[in-house]
Amino acid sequence: MKEIQDTWAKKAKEEGYRSRASFKLLQINKPHKLIENANMIIELGSAPGGWSQVISKLKKNNAKCYAFDLLPMKNVKGIDFSNLDLFSVEFEEFTENLATKVDLILSDMSVNLSGIKLIDDESNKQLNFFCLDLSKKILSTKGALIIKTFTNENLKSLKLEFENAFERVFVEKPKASKTSSAEVYLLGLVPK
Ligand SMILES: C[S@@+](CC[C@H](N)C(=O)[O-])C[C@H]1O[C@@H](n2cnc3c(N)ncnc32)[C@H](O)[C@@H]1O
Repeated sequence: MKEIQDTWAKKAKEEGYRSRASFKLLQINKPHKLIENANMIIELGSAPGGWSQVISKLKKNNAKCYAFDLLPMKNVKGIDFSNLDLFSVEFEEFTENLATKVDLILSDMSVNLSGIKLIDDESNKQLNFFCLDLSKKILSTKGALIIKTFTNENLKSLKLEFENAFERVFVEKPKASKTSSAEVYLLGLVPK
């Protein structure tokens, strides 16, 4: 299995991607062409920039993409990056005038693990609900939300919340995601 996983890291290096995570986004996006069709994209938790590189490559020339992370990120062409905590006043101010203007919100965010499962699950749940609440405020009528989450006891209720919020919901485990990892991606299409 390690061999297969290393293949993605090797492939990322060969193709000039900053992380293997790029392939996860390529695989999730492919059937829906969400990046190609969006005019306004917001990426949350973007460092070191593997997803930003994919967005930069696939988005329309005139489409805007704003990316955010607690950590610094090297420039990616066509991506407007801010070194910000999502829970900051600055981020809240950024979103204030965006109601119905955003076509795609992507989050590959997860917290730094404490090693205490209950605490880590709760902190990631907080990040997940932050994204879902944000999507209700700023997504356009045909918008989409992609978030990283985890197979744990919170997944069922989170998926239900997605089903209440979106016309179509998918749980994705891209091939490039380590099989040993509990991470999965929730995709919500078309806000209700
Ligand atoms: C798995 S990494 C993202 C990898 C990225 N998708 C890529 O392809 O390179 C998760 C990121 O989420 C960021 N993050 C976690 N909590 C955050 C918060 N509250 N505000 C902003 N960024 C956050 C972390 O700093 C980390 O860089």
